[in-house]
Amino acid sequence: MDWKEIYKQKLREPEEVVKLIKSGNRVVIGHAAAEPTALVDAMVKNCKQYENVEIVHMVALGKCEYAKPEMSKHFKHNALFVGGSTRESVKECISDYTPTFFYQVPKLFKKGYLPIDVALVEVSKPDEHGFCSFGVSCDYTKTGAECAKIVIAEVNDQMPRTFGDNFIHVSDIDYIVESSRSLIELQPPKITDVEKAIGENCASLIEDGSTLQLGIGAIPDAVLLFLKDKKNLGIHSEMFSDGLVDLYNSGAINNSKKSLHKGKMVVTFLMGTKKLYDFVNDNPAVELYPVSYVNDPMVIMQNNKMVSINSCIQVDMMGQVSSESIGLTQFSGVGGQVDYVRGTSMSEDGKSIIAMPSTASKGKISRIVPFLDNGSAVTTSRNDVEYIVTEYGIADLRGKTLKQRARELIKIAHPNFRDALVEEFENRFKEKF
Ligand code: COA
Repeated sequence: MDWKEIYKQKLREPEEVVKLIKSGNRVVIGHAAAEPTALVDAMVKNCKQYENVEIVHMVALGKCEYAKPEMSKHFKHNALFVGGSTRESVKECISDYTPTFFYQVPKLFKKGYLPIDVALVEVSKPDEHGFCSFGVSCDYTKTGAECAKIVIAEVNDQMPRTFGDNFIHVSDIDYIVESSRSLIELQPPKITDVEKAIGENCASLIEDGSTLQLGIGAIPDAVLLFLKDKKNLGIHSEMFSDGLVDLYNSGAINNSKKSLHKGKMVVTFLMGTKKLYDFVNDNPAVELYPVSYVNDPMVIMQNNKMVSINSCIQVDMMGQVSSESIGLTQFSGVGGQVDYVRGTSMSEDGKSIIAMPSTASKGKISRIVPFLDNGSAVTTSRNDVEYIVTEYGIADLRGKTLKQRARELIKIAHPNFRDALVEEFENRFKEKF
């Protein structure tokens, strides 16, 4: 049958299709800026018909009404990452968090650790062959749709069409709803002098011809500001945002020296503003693949001169990095941090960087500490860590003893906290700093 005919037959209204969700089902929602908001709104509106529907989601940029206390009888939110919209709910034990490396999320679906009943996804309009693109989120979204018993797709004519292994044919979708609305946007962060100093320190470690992974936020954006004079940079990253568009247009990124996917910027999702979404639309220079591929350390390592830059909350004097919790409070998630730290450390001439301001809470707290807060999760272990960067400098912990590491870290701590750290050093190591 002609795909256009199939498409017509599958077309429904959101209110109608969400009735297919049954109490006790596990529902996966398309990730980040690819959240199918018309479907999610209809599902929340229909909440009285459900009990105990588990919502699996990662970076949830939408309203997250299903995670509110008054919804707890109807929905249980299983967060694979915690953000502003879900933090309180996880803290209050209304929602729960599943620790897992990002690259392994598709495996949880495929191998039945988290079997999916219904996938709610958002896709682009079909092309002339009947293929819809998952647009700005391939990550776990594509695998979620492949593994779900029922796939409901919101076809949004404003979803960019992106390349890579990022398509679904209309014949593989069970039900379709149509929408036309701008994608969820994330505005660029404000970059302060502290972040600029961190960015400059990180950029000093990046050689021409490197392939980069940069997270989101002020620090990655600050790094980009100092890369304009570099040459032949490449991108293999979990995601990128608006800041990268300017650097690409400046000519510093051309992907010509990449040892894997030469000439292409490879990512698993994209999150930013319309500027970014317009840039990636129908752009063969950008390719999206499932996170099980992009973030697999064995894939990342195939990029020579790979440099990863991620951030954290605390580092102790041994080099244990906590990036996702403040004590027992789950603040964010591991995301792809360890995927990249490990893949990068296996890459020929790779460098993995953890970059952070030396203090938190408006300068009241040092992020370099003798001990992690009670209950904090170790995200990057002391065995995996390589470079730690603050606005005060660079500590390369590779091949360093516990004592040498402590010295290096104290040197890049904020001056206000160095005396206390030195005192701890002298007690711990029984020698003068
Ligand atoms: N003690 C107490 N509070 C702390 C703290 C500490 N040691 N460290 C940070 N905080 C507070 C900050 O003060 C800030 O609160 P405020 O906004 O009220 O001032 C808040 O926690 C957020 O800290 P900040 O460092 O500004 O957050 P960020 O938005 O730059 O994100 C991470 C930093 C580490 C949370 C984030 O990078 C992350 O989640 N990383 C893990 C996942 C990852 O690396 N993914 C990368 C692959 S793309």
